[in-house]
Amino acid sequence: MPFAGLEGKVALVTGAARGIGAATCLRLMQEGCKVVAVDVLREELVQSCAAMSGEVVVVVADVSREQDCDAMVTEAVLHFGALDLFVNNAGVIGPRLPITELPVEEFDRVHAVNIRGAFMALRAALRQMQAQGRGGAVVNVASVGGLAAQPLSAAYGSSKRAIIGLSGTAAHENGPHGIRVNAVCPGAVDTPMLAPAMNLAAVPEGAFKGSPLGRAANPSEVAAFIAYLLSDEASYQTGGVYPVDGGRTI
Ligand SMILES: NC(=O)c1ccc[n+]([C@@H]2O[C@H](COP(=O)([O-])OP(=O)(O)OC[C@H]3O[C@@H](n4cnc5c(N)ncnc54)[C@H](O)[C@@H]3O)[C@@H](O)[C@H]2O)c1
Repeated sequence: MPFAGLEGKVALVTGAARGIGAATCLRLMQEGCKVVAVDVLREELVQSCAAMSGEVVVVVADVSREQDCDAMVTEAVLHFGALDLFVNNAGVIGPRLPITELPVEEFDRVHAVNIRGAFMALRAALRQMQAQGRGGAVVNVASVGGLAAQPLSAAYGSSKRAIIGLSGTAAHENGPHGIRVNAVCPGAVDTPMLAPAMNLAAVPEGAFKGSPLGRAANPSEVAAFIAYLLSDEASYQTGGVYPVDGGRTI
């Protein structure tokens, strides 16, 4: 059974060319949404969306640029007439270095996308939803790295902790507009982001024994939870911060 309330809705997903974003586009299309797929990687985005059947528009945009964030929402409205759902997913991981060795430029690069970019994208989406006056739903993609400190992750971890804060503020401000805002915190997910950092293909069986399920997630498992939060099934959920981590943070 599809999730209630997604059929016919217009959803914008950033970081849609691969990983969790691509899986979320696919899931939302399967749920009957019209999807605006946004990424900096033109070729990968076009290829990924070509493999999906449904109503999808591809927009090449860099969320670290203010004008791109505003333009992607404008494109959504031009193509589909509205914006109902927003998945603030684009992110970069940065180098795994101790604080003492982390260049400021790398710290800034990660924050420029993961929190400054997420803020500008969220702002553009909320402005549109508020102007429409018919509510909406947002999922910000944070990380377990924003819930629990990890070594070698100063830039990434702090950016993900910040997006949890941003998400709560957005939930407060937008509840009166009927717009729900939640954050998901994936654990290890088998995507191109994680592969080089953890060399998943070479991870021996049991390496995820720190989590009860003992494995990394498939991106579709995160996408399913995002789709639920966007749907009317989650109509009383706002301001939530939800680990999707196989129990890693219990
Ligand atoms: N993979 C994991 O284990 C994991 C765990 C926790 C959280 N996350 C978060 O989930 C989200 C998706 O990660 P993923 O694992 O699918 O990564 P990924 O690298 O597979 O995909 C991220 C996508 O974001 C796009 N992107 C990067 N910078 C962008 C920008 N400035 N503008 C537009 N698009 C941009 C990339 O091109 C890429 O297509 C990220 O926010 C990430 O931090 C991932």
